Amino acid sequence: MSEPFLRIENITKTFKDNLVVKGVDLAFNKGEFVSLLGPSGCGKTTILRMIAGFERPTTGQIIVDGNDVTDLPPNRRKIGMVFQAYALFPNMNVADNIGFGLKIAGMPKAEREARVEEMLKLISLPSLGKRFPFELSGGQQQRVALARAIAPRPSMLLLDEPLSALDAKIRVSLRQEIRQIQRELGITTVFVTHDQEEALSISDRIVVMNAGKVEQFGTPFEIYNRPASRFAATFVGTLNTLGAKVTDAASRTVTIDGQSLTLDRLPAGVRNGDSVALTLRPEAVSLATGRRTTLHSTGACRAWPSSVRSCGSRSIWARTPSTSTSSTTSTVRRRPTTTRCRSPSSVAISSFSTTEAWRRRIASARFVA
Ligand SMILES: Nc1ncnc2c1ncn2[C@@H]1O[C@H](COP(=O)(O)OP(=O)(O)OP(=O)(O)O)[C@@H](O)[C@H]1O
Ligand SMILES: [Mg+2]
Repeated sequence: MSEPFLRIENITKTFKDNLVVKGVDLAFNKGEFVSLLGPSGCGKTTILRMIAGFERPTTGQIIVDGNDVTDLPPNRRKIGMVFQAYALFPNMNVADNIGFGLKIAGMPKAEREARVEEMLKLISLPSLGKRFPFELSGGQQQRVALARAIAPRPSMLLLDEPLSALDAKIRVSLRQEIRQIQRELGITTVFVTHDQEEALSISDRIVVMNAGKVEQFGTPFEIYNRPASRFAATFVGTLNTLGAKVTDAASRTVTIDGQSLTLDRLPAGVRNGDSVALTLRPEAVSLATGRRTTLHSTGACRAWPSSVRSCGSRSIWARTPSTSTSSTTSTVRRRPTTTRCRSPSSVAISSFSTTEAWRRRIASARFVA
């Protein structure tokens, strides 16, 4: 495995007395697309600004391609950045906006114009070079901002919620475009978002952050199916949390409401008598409406020490068919929807109406950790 392209080593950041980034260690590979995902105020922008050089870490180091850049000013870091508010220069046309960084770098006019043309093609706006920002849609402006960031051939691209000002439909198409351009150029990219779906759909890896710390760093699959903490589990996607007690750690046996289950894995260090929380994604549970109700689980489950039981309410998130006519297997193919089923429930989930039946169903579920 080659050396990581970007290493963030034990970074902290304090604003006055406020510690907002609390010892973050991360390593990104060359050409990788990594998303920083977390709730508002968790420190995503602050980390991005430290990578770019707009903020200095209070402690720790930033290493790019083997070089310590912690004390380098932004203009010596070869980084392209796109901000949340696209911030194009309003008094310059599109071509001049895109060529701005090239001009500052002293690129000759003819070469600059050729590069701007190339960039306009790349962002699928080949004929709009003469327009001014106010003559563009929000999505077009954001593409121009992207072109301006990548025109000087930066070694890294930093995107701070570049799509947040756009409506949902354009967001989806533009994020795919960004990803495609990023792949074509093979440029290492850090993408900030608080939209989990966005992060899960376009990233090679995701950093889940909470309150200045990294909760988990992994592939979208790992983040979704193997959450490393309660926060990571509940922040990403919908899920059921089932309280359980470890009865025999050696054989990974736990009990839920007295019902025994063997898990595929338990976290290291868990002992007999510990309380753990099991998580079950809705798509791991299929319910058919009608009198005969079935419950399958083939999805992921993960446990970690906890004393909280949140399934005592006898409700569970499950995938229910979008139509109420056919069998579970065929309805699953017909775009099932996620529903919270309560017991007793008016959606004919009769098997949830008694504790006994609920236990039986959970017991027959297969937990794959
Ligand atoms: N220049 C600053 N001076 C003082 N506090 C700051 C400064 N910049 C950020 N903060 C604080 O640091 C914390 C993290 O801010 P940051 O902008 O990194 O959050 P974020 O994760 O990007 O949030 P959002 O999703 O809302 O953009 C916040 O509590 C914020 O108020
Ligand atoms: Mg931010």
